[in-house]
Amino acid sequence: MTDFAPLDIDMIEAGLDTSLVANKILLYKATSSTNDVAWEYASNRDNNGLCIFAEQQHAGRGRRGNKWLSSPGAGILCSILLLDMDDAGEMLTLAAAVAVAETISERLGREAKIKWPNDIFLNGRKVAGLLVESRPGRGVVDYVLGIGINCHQDRAFFENAQLDNPATSLDIETNSTVDRNTLACDLLNTLDRRLNVMQTDTDSIIAGWKAAAGLLGHHVVVEHNRRRFAGNCTGIDPARGMVLQLDSGGVRAFPAAQTTILKQSTCP
Ligand code: BTN
Repeated sequence: MTDFAPLDIDMIEAGLDTSLVANKILLYKATSSTNDVAWEYASNRDNNGLCIFAEQQHAGRGRRGNKWLSSPGAGILCSILLLDMDDAGEMLTLAAAVAVAETISERLGREAKIKWPNDIFLNGRKVAGLLVESRPGRGVVDYVLGIGINCHQDRAFFENAQLDNPATSLDIETNSTVDRNTLACDLLNTLDRRLNVMQTDTDSIIAGWKAAAGLLGHHVVVEHNRRRFAGNCTGIDPARGMVLQLDSGGVRAFPAAQTTILKQSTCP
């Protein structure tokens, strides 16, 4: 563990103003993955909204089989259990990405960008990521929403990690030490607000996402089911994903879960 202030459930709870998210919070010193822990609590429906934090993960995972690396005590590693939700399609991912970007932007006083569908960038480098996992039930879906935010990592950490994409932390970007407890509290409050809005006003989530993404109208190359497609992004469809006017002709939607952006004419 580093010398940084540890996460503290009492401090996080003291600032909470949520209706669903974090009705209960558990903090682990170390675990495999907070997403796995959250799923273990899914059989008790009273655990809807449960939030799991960990100071360290031995097997943190990202999208598409990637690992999520974070040194002990250096990041926000959390997972929120959301039970019996309407099948929100891609909307939950968009709402969560907007909430994380908004939390970071407000904290730093400068705009964090979303790289489709749910990577959060500062200064052209990835600072946070989301992993949305789902298990369908009868007419409803259970979700675990995993969020990782780089907070105290230094440049050497990312150099040694040999990541595919450049990454950064909030401390590097601000040249100061972020308060993880306040950040965690802001994150849960913002997420709760965005999830409430999502129930009634999907347009405003999409508008928030578009504002932070800067993808619309730009040329992108994506990989989908091991094939490459290139085209101009003409929209985001909450049910079907990113819509491209393909260079090869025709319009096609690409769902987030099976698609990666390889090239984008503007870097977030
Ligand atoms: C990505 O960028 O590919 C998604 C990264 C998600 C990482 C978080 S950290 C907390 C939660 N537990 C995990 O194992 N993954 C998510």
